[in-house]
Amino acid sequence: MSQYDSYGSLEGFPTADLATTPIDSQELPLHTPPKLNIVHVTKTFFPYSVNERVALDDFSLTLADGDFVTIIGSNGAGKSTLLSVVAGVYRPERGGIFIDGMDVTRLPEHSMARFVGRVFQDPMAGTAPDLTIEENLAVALHRGQTRGLGRGVTTAKKKRFQSELAVMGLGLENRLTTKVGYLSGGQRQALSLIMAVFSRPSILLLDEHTAALDPARAELITRITAQEVAAHRLTTLMVTHNMEQALRLGNRLILMHEGRIELELSGEEKARSSVDSLLEQFNQRTSGAVSDRTLLS
Ligand SMILES: Nc1ncnc2c1ncn2[C@@H]1O[C@H](COP(=O)(O)OP(=O)(O)O)[C@@H](O)[C@H]1O
Ligand SMILES: [Mg+2]
Repeated sequence: MSQYDSYGSLEGFPTADLATTPIDSQELPLHTPPKLNIVHVTKTFFPYSVNERVALDDFSLTLADGDFVTIIGSNGAGKSTLLSVVAGVYRPERGGIFIDGMDVTRLPEHSMARFVGRVFQDPMAGTAPDLTIEENLAVALHRGQTRGLGRGVTTAKKKRFQSELAVMGLGLENRLTTKVGYLSGGQRQALSLIMAVFSRPSILLLDEHTAALDPARAELITRITAQEVAAHRLTTLMVTHNMEQALRLGNRLILMHEGRIELELSGEEKARSSVDSLLEQFNQRTSGAVSDRTLLS
């Protein structure tokens, strides 16, 4: 006789193994908050003026732990604004941002650094040229921590820097004391990526981070991105202008237009889609407002 019998009839409830099944955190999805929850967010630039621009329009998106979402969309669709709102750069006037169930909507950008790693399009943006590779990494390692002394490079830290850099196969692990200003754009972007993931952020935000590179280097950064995201199971939002890349990477894809999600694909459906089918669906939804060139340029 189980301990539940005394509670009377539990007809319709799955009581059979309640008393004997061990609690496995993997089996508690209903009680685990999403990794990232963007809830009815609206962000307007220059409100109540002739230049008013609604960049995010009642935008909602939920990411489970380990989701890798690629984002494509027309110019001005609100993709960068979305990433900036998640990073705490802009505050939405309506709606909320939750990370692991915690309301971070009103946290200032510097407090968000603890949760968010970010790589931008410009290879010069993510690293400090006058600092060496190891100094840049030391700063990244301590990002978001309140206590300073981040730049100190101990032997233990050097070892970790070397092993993380070696994974990329660019030889940067042998150049720890080289100033970053001497590196190529591709090498700097690779370093920016390593720095963004170094403190294992809750959310990784990539904003067209391969767009400024030549095709070979873009491919290299794409490969390193896929490798790092998989190795650390990072929950990731990646904006790209490259539809083929958007289809190839990640487990979900969203297509944005005028501050909203026009189309979402995941799993099998995403795997089966082609650039042509994606463009066709997008044009249907936007009445052909977006030309192929706009999306692909
Ligand atoms: N800092 C800003 N100030 C004023 N308007 C902005 C700002 N950032 C973006 N916008 C406007 O918001 C809209 C969305 O921009 P953005 O998020 O950069 O689009 P995307 O990255 O998809 O090209 C555009 O109309 C853009 O002009
Ligand atoms: Mg943008």
